[in-house]
Amino acid sequence: MTIKDIAAIAGVSVTTVSMVLNNKAGSISEETREKVLRVAKEYSFKPYAKAIQNASVRSGLVGLLIPGDTRTFSDFVAGAQEAAAAEGYSLILCSGEREPEIKKHLNGLYSKGADGVALYLAEETDLDALFAGAPDKLVYAVVSNRQSTARQCSAFCAVFDAAMLGTEHLIAAGHKGIALLGWRNRPESEEFFSGYSTALYRHNISMKSEEVGLCADQEELESVIRQMTDYKSTAFLCQDQSVAACVYRVLDRCGLRIPKDRSVVCMSDGATALDIFAPELSTIDLRRRELGRSVMRELIARIEGSSRAAQEPQRLLPELRQGASVASPLTSKRIVVVGSMNMDTMIHLSHLPTSGESLLCQRIINLPGGKGANQAVGAAKLGGDVCVIGCLGDDQEGRLLRSSLVENGVNTTGVMTIPGKPTGKAYILVSDKGESTIVFSYGTNGELLPNIVERNEGLFAGAEYCLLSTEIPWDTVLYTIDLCVRRHVQVILKPTIQRPISSDILEKIDFLIPNEKELDVQVPGNLSADEKAECLFSRGARNIIVTLGDKGCYLRNAEFKRAFPAADFAAVDTTGAGDAFISAFAVYLSEGYDITSSIRFATYAAGISITRDGVQPAMAGRIALEMYADQYSAHQAE
Ligand code: RIB
Repeated sequence: MTIKDIAAIAGVSVTTVSMVLNNKAGSISEETREKVLRVAKEYSFKPYAKAIQNASVRSGLVGLLIPGDTRTFSDFVAGAQEAAAAEGYSLILCSGEREPEIKKHLNGLYSKGADGVALYLAEETDLDALFAGAPDKLVYAVVSNRQSTARQCSAFCAVFDAAMLGTEHLIAAGHKGIALLGWRNRPESEEFFSGYSTALYRHNISMKSEEVGLCADQEELESVIRQMTDYKSTAFLCQDQSVAACVYRVLDRCGLRIPKDRSVVCMSDGATALDIFAPELSTIDLRRRELGRSVMRELIARIEGSSRAAQEPQRLLPELRQGASVASPLTSKRIVVVGSMNMDTMIHLSHLPTSGESLLCQRIINLPGGKGANQAVGAAKLGGDVCVIGCLGDDQEGRLLRSSLVENGVNTTGVMTIPGKPTGKAYILVSDKGESTIVFSYGTNGELLPNIVERNEGLFAGAEYCLLSTEIPWDTVLYTIDLCVRRHVQVILKPTIQRPISSDILEKIDFLIPNEKELDVQVPGNLSADEKAECLFSRGARNIIVTLGDKGCYLRNAEFKRAFPAADFAAVDTTGAGDAFISAFAVYLSEGYDITSSIRFATYAAGISITRDGVQPAMAGRIALEMYADQYSAHQAE
């Protein structure tokens, strides 16, 4: 930049520029003086700078130009800084993406007498044009993340390889629905996308446009992630840590767990702390610090004449750092449970008392219960992917119930604590023969209003079944059924409460599972269970399974009118056998088994549950139930 250039840009004569810069602007208007000073400042023009720039003495100054904000390139800058300091050079950091901006920074560096400049180029650039007019002594080294510009480079940041490596890591874990998340119009976005799409192509996985989320800002990113939770994507490839942080936040809000529900991989600088992510993030390290170091060393070697421009750019291959954010995708579909949560007081008696009778009980135990909580625990014990929506009090009972859910592997994001109300309670009389009767108080179950289900709608994303029972406000039952219809989630309903269900609602329920007493409420009169099931079928219910205690169960749907025997177990306490049946039925369906196989499986789950006291502690785990696999599978072949 010469005095002539400044005069041309300011639109004045060389003499005017000279007079202004030498404080001899007496006859020059204030406006012209200001214009000249502004242009000179903008282009870092200093009189005689050319002479300084071309002097053969070294200034010990080097420039470093990055194409984006310092946060994104912090490790690259740190590496370059380390290498410069080690060789006794001071570093001037500038940031600019497009050519005019870069030129302006270069002029500034020339005027300060910089010995060389390292540039991280975001786009293909004509280096001869860029460095036209540079001082003779100036040398430069270039780093790029674009394959196409690689031939001009000293080093190459392999964003393309990193995106490929991340995508292939997820494919190797079994994922096929892999979503790409990052920023639109960022220096590295194109390479990032192209590495991702190439990896999918090589593995014969078709890329879906709804799985590509390159966003303009944080707000758009959040809404894209939320939409993606509705698609079949099981994994996310993130461009940087701000994207990964947003994924963690949104998934948490939707009640989706990493890595059980969704896997996450992120490109990273390498040195930035990743333990702030829980579970720890799996990353593809771009090794930018090493890149910064190597480019600066190369630049200084050139300044000092010990190296000439490298023929082949140095290519630092990215490395996978395994955290805990990747797992194989779930094979079973999620089950959402909406229902009551009670502290059960089990009162054991010789027989169930009749009216007017006083009885001394044998023992009293408190155990976690409630149909919603029982079904959630039952399904989770069998390996189902279960989350539950319900309400607990801020009391001892509420805390015990919550920990029983958590200990059994139920996702409790949808369990609300309601201050100032007691947790629901059930008083259960159990006879020596194992029969039981239940009296319960609503407590916080009465607070499970539609807005709570609405608030937790994210839990229904990707769910296949909803287990619904009716010891909660009826409006919530209706709201949940409609929500399930809208979201294509199948409803399995246990109609506990004494309320007949109208045909228009029956039609929306996929599986109705009443016991004999509950069936009587729906179809009063002296008909047999088969006839009553027939009646419900003719009213629009699609699959009716009547549980008949030690007589097994009866299925009526478009295909079957069929009785299934009970599994042969001696009853200690039959409380909650229906919950055990329903949860096992849903788990087996969610694993892809048909309705009759699922009923067989459920029959054994119910059978095991009556051999012990209480409900949740008595429910079978997968291993216990699979000990009877020969039997429930043999029945299936009948
Ligand atoms: O189905 C059994 C359950 O019904 C008990 O745990 C009790 O709390 C009631 O909700």
